[in-house]
Amino acid sequence: MNLPDMKQAKSRNKESVEFIYTNPITTNKFSGKKYFIKTYGCQMNVHDSEEISGLLENLGFEEVTTELEADIIILNTCAIRENAHDKVFGFLGRCKHLKGEKPDLKIILCGCMAQEKSVVDEILAKHKYIDLVFGTHNIHELPSLLMNLSNGLNIEVKSNEGNVFEIGESFKRDSKYSAWVNIMYGCDKFCTYCIVPYTRGKERSRKSKDILREVNCLKEKGYKEVTLLGQNVNAYGTDLDDDLNFAGLLESVAKTGMMRIRFVTSHPWNFTDEMIDVIAKYDNIMPYIHLPLQSGSDRILKLMGRRYTKEEYLTLYKKIKERVKNAAITTDIIVGFPNETDEDFLDTLSVVEECKYDGAYTFIYSPREGTPASLMEDSTPKEVKEERLQKLNEIVNKYSNMNNQKYLNKTVKVLLVGTSEKDDNKLYGYTETMKLVNVICDKSLVGEIVDVLITDAKSFSLDGIVE
Ligand code: 5AD
Ligand code: SF4
Repeated sequence: MNLPDMKQAKSRNKESVEFIYTNPITTNKFSGKKYFIKTYGCQMNVHDSEEISGLLENLGFEEVTTELEADIIILNTCAIRENAHDKVFGFLGRCKHLKGEKPDLKIILCGCMAQEKSVVDEILAKHKYIDLVFGTHNIHELPSLLMNLSNGLNIEVKSNEGNVFEIGESFKRDSKYSAWVNIMYGCDKFCTYCIVPYTRGKERSRKSKDILREVNCLKEKGYKEVTLLGQNVNAYGTDLDDDLNFAGLLESVAKTGMMRIRFVTSHPWNFTDEMIDVIAKYDNIMPYIHLPLQSGSDRILKLMGRRYTKEEYLTLYKKIKERVKNAAITTDIIVGFPNETDEDFLDTLSVVEECKYDGAYTFIYSPREGTPASLMEDSTPKEVKEERLQKLNEIVNKYSNMNNQKYLNKTVKVLLVGTSEKDDNKLYGYTETMKLVNVICDKSLVGEIVDVLITDAKSFSLDGIVE
């Protein structure tokens, strides 16, 4: 085990990364064996699970949809808030019980929690029934780890080594129409509440030629949409010599002719005019931007280490709205950061009132061990934080509904991606602005971009019929 030292991470070396091109092991050694994978957390984890599934299927494994049928269970975990951590340990309890009935069952834990020393210590002390723990830096090693697994607990977690591994198209993608494409790994922003820079390591960009090859390959396979993924996409390329910056990359991806291009997540700091120009210029770059605010109070933003003020955020917000036609903007907000006062909270509400977001992910601050904010004193009672969250959600939902009402009786382009969970007779898909739409239409239209007349608008989704 070689875990990052949380205290030293901020002074991590800036040496350039090594690019390693690999051909994942292909064998039928495990044919007939079944795997179940459970994914917690963000899109990055969802895409990592696509990689893990791809690697497992290269070894002969077959995916099953419940843990009961599985020969191996993989938990791809998230560390961002305490509740994600609790859910994982809850599910591990079930896995332990299953292993009691089926001793050959293998239990594997990976993802961000595996990169936390306290979690590894907890596993060593109380969860020895787990067979393998690996981290976010050595997913590509999974085939060899499985082929050489010893009895008992195997811990194979690496630190922020600064490598970029290219595994070609060894992903088992969840969708045949819309694909995730990593453009970079890690984060160097060190917002004081956030554990990601420690669990995901330093910023490492993929080479633009590798990203473009992947996008072209997806286009050839018939994909209609790609979402470029990074913790902070604005920083793309800053660690590479002689390569594109994010605006340049976005423009090159637009020129591939991929029908829909999205990206997550942009930090409001260093969101350049050049980026806005490119987004505005290309019709195939979708007018949807996720722009995390976190707080509307300058005092709290400073304590969070966010590098912008409320005014700077609002100026950027307005610039995007002016220059990108019909842009939808969503955000992330944390309430109850240590010692957030009523006044600080009111500042956050005032930004929400001004921006009238299309949607927002809202969270109560959760202290994460090893982060600077976790050492800050906090005297705000839990009930006050809960009240703030509720008040914030009421306002967020009001604007989300208001924005959705604007779609009523309009015709919009929707990429249909699957059958509606609630109604088997409907397909669901997304507008260019990332609104979820349930559509009454012929099932054969799945995978198509169609014109849809919006017949009903609710807070979190729209209904429509194909024109
Ligand atoms: N507590 C609560 N929310 C957090 N986030 C990140 N770290 C924490 C934390 N410690 C939120 C931020 C981020 C989103 C992905 O999760 O809003 O943008
Ligand atoms: Fe966390 Fe801040 Fe990096 Fe986002 S930009 S991943 S909130 S440290």
